[in-house]
Amino acid sequence: MNPTRAEIDFAKLAFNVEQIRRHIHGEYPKRKIKICGVVKANAYGHGIEEVSKKLVDLGIDFLGVANYDEAIRLRKLIPNTPILVFGTLIHSKLEPAKYVSILHKHNLTATVASYDTAKFLNDYSRKFKSKFKVHIKVDTGMRRIGLDYKGAFKTIQQIAALKNIELEGIFTHFASSEEKNKTFSKLQLKRFNKLLGELKKAGIEFPIVHSANSGAVLDLKGSYFNMVRPGLLLYGYYPGNGVRNKIKLKPIMNLKSKVTFIKKIEARESVSYGRKYFAKQNEFIGSIPIGYGDGYQRLLTNKARVLINKKLYRQIGAVTMDWIMASLGKRYNIKIGDDVLLMGEENGNYLGADKLGKLCGKIPYEMICAVADRVERVYLNG
Ligand SMILES: Cc1ncc(COP(=O)(O)O)c(C=O)c1O
Repeated sequence: MNPTRAEIDFAKLAFNVEQIRRHIHGEYPKRKIKICGVVKANAYGHGIEEVSKKLVDLGIDFLGVANYDEAIRLRKLIPNTPILVFGTLIHSKLEPAKYVSILHKHNLTATVASYDTAKFLNDYSRKFKSKFKVHIKVDTGMRRIGLDYKGAFKTIQQIAALKNIELEGIFTHFASSEEKNKTFSKLQLKRFNKLLGELKKAGIEFPIVHSANSGAVLDLKGSYFNMVRPGLLLYGYYPGNGVRNKIKLKPIMNLKSKVTFIKKIEARESVSYGRKYFAKQNEFIGSIPIGYGDGYQRLLTNKARVLINKKLYRQIGAVTMDWIMASLGKRYNIKIGDDVLLMGEENGNYLGADKLGKLCGKIPYEMICAVADRVERVYLNG
């Protein structure tokens, strides 16, 4: 058995969810604010099925995914919780009526980012007993997908006239809510609120209104409406330094392996591909079976540290596809089979995805999403 694994601690997930709940309801104790747990991209590398099941146990109200494939896969396991698909309806090889009926059968909630999408869903939904639920996406400055806020009022009026879809929600997405400076986020929020006000005057209201991703959950109170959409916070990381430490979080994944080979090298010998490390003295090195094939970034070469028996050791030489090496020094007290922490936190030693990412120019999102499929996910405290 390959000793490399990602241990995912559900007690820590529960802790993070509780911190988010307290934070948002601390601001608005009387308001019931739903949480849409964002589990796209395989729950940011943590395993979409297991994490989603746990989030449902923890009372999460919605699950957010990027596309219909993720949603259909999830629906097989999660029969009742609403699943909001953030992505657009892209062309399918299936005939449209069949395609829409599959999405409807799986009881998915669609994002509508254009009139055409709304019309498409509407036109192929005539026969259904229940209406296809949709959330309208408004682009207030992200410039990715969504109805441009400037012309959105008119388009939403047209969409509201369609009879076979249900306008359950409306939302927008922030471009820089993780930054300390909230000027642009506040402008986005202002644009969104103005549109909501105009729609209300015209008699168009939505049961669910949402905008807050992790950065906004932490630091933009006015953005909660009646649902928030945190992703990264669930997994225990802050989306940026500007909003760090607003609540306490615990990284839920510990990426681990074992020391599987120990050898002595002599001064001036090199280690690994490209000879990027030369020993200054005779020393022992330990080989650990994790590499960029597992998502351990090659750019960490000669930069990272690994934790073995509560002590940090330098990773040395190029990170290879399947192995890294660590300098154990002139004497060592480590056995083959001892655990190694590569990313995460253990016994107060912090090797978080944010810290490791900083060493190689990556954001914590990339570091956790990069953990490869071949790394076994082990769930603790389920
Ligand atoms: C539409 C939408 N909402 C919410 C999120 C969650 O973002 P974060 O992980 O920063 O909380 C994402 C992820 O990028 C998203 O695309």
